[in-house]
Amino acid sequence: MDETAQIENFERRIAAGESIEPKDWMPERFRKQLTRMISQHAHSEIVGMLPEGAWITRAPTLRRKITLLAKVQDEGGHGLYLYCAAETLGADRSELIDQLLAGKAKYSSIFNYPTLSWADIGVIGWFVDGAAIVNQTMLAKASYGPYSRAMIRICKEENFHKKQGFEIVATLAAGTPAQHAMVQDAVNRWWWPSLMMFGPHDADSPNSAELKRWGIKRRSNDELRQRFVDMTVPQAQAVNLTLPDPELRYNAATDQWHFGEINWEEFHRVINGDGPCNKERLQARRDAHENGRWVREAAEAYAAKQQRMQAA
Ligand code: 3HC
Repeated sequence: MDETAQIENFERRIAAGESIEPKDWMPERFRKQLTRMISQHAHSEIVGMLPEGAWITRAPTLRRKITLLAKVQDEGGHGLYLYCAAETLGADRSELIDQLLAGKAKYSSIFNYPTLSWADIGVIGWFVDGAAIVNQTMLAKASYGPYSRAMIRICKEENFHKKQGFEIVATLAAGTPAQHAMVQDAVNRWWWPSLMMFGPHDADSPNSAELKRWGIKRRSNDELRQRFVDMTVPQAQAVNLTLPDPELRYNAATDQWHFGEINWEEFHRVINGDGPCNKERLQARRDAHENGRWVREAAEAYAAKQQRMQAA
């Protein structure tokens, strides 16, 4: 088929809800968009291990430590899963990682905020993993097979992440006044950055139209953000916590919670490298990469030796 016929056939397959697989013909823009999105998602999972990892040695009980360890390990696994998904598009994993380490690749803005108390660990599970579930449940229906299948697996683990986080939050909120104040402070610091996870308003989203046309995004940034707010407000009320938005009010006509405007200046500052922890996060990844150099070199030496032995 010539290119025009291939594009028509591709669009027909997308319209029919078919899953596009790695060996199928796809427009180069489709491949490029998915590589961008999946690689940034993978980077987010790996960098996302850092804020929580800082509290593994400071967890208040052995049970909390074991649960947090499991969650952070899960995030690392999600990252590896997603780098594999990016490789099915022809991406080179070491090139993707080099882009991250060079500060050229994006990862989710949310991970550039500090974790100042144990309550942050609960609120991250509740808000950040909760927002990720809203987004990733939609991506589990994406038109690209390896990505949607990765999302199905990852969403199962995210549900555990959110539940363990909300249990920490509910425990602290029902605890002493000092514990309630600690979790309320964490809510105040993480609420607005969590809403930024869904990206800019639809009207300001240069990628959404193409991603929706090709069935990668089934919902818009604003639709997913609204869904997250509508789910989370009743949860906050249930544990007697206040979300830091004076404009929050229920609209019975739409059965939705109206909320205030996000600080988009802060959003753009953080995604352009000038957030509270951007430099610290990148340095931590660069150090880990350097400390792991000997492992990569040993694995490459072993693989080369195996190849020589097989060739002999
Ligand atoms: N942080 C960093 N960059 C962001 C961002 C955020 N919160 N929101 C948007 N951006 C960037 C986009 O990458 C894009 O920049 P680029 O063109 O240079 O890549 C630009 O801002 C414009 O945004 P768009 O809305 O046009 O971009 P998208 O259509 O790609 O939508 C997205 C942004 C909603 C993040 C989408 O890419 C997406 O759904 N990605 C997959 C999910 C993901 O990456 N989630 C990150 C969190 S991972 C996580 O939560 C781990 C969990 O275990 C806790």
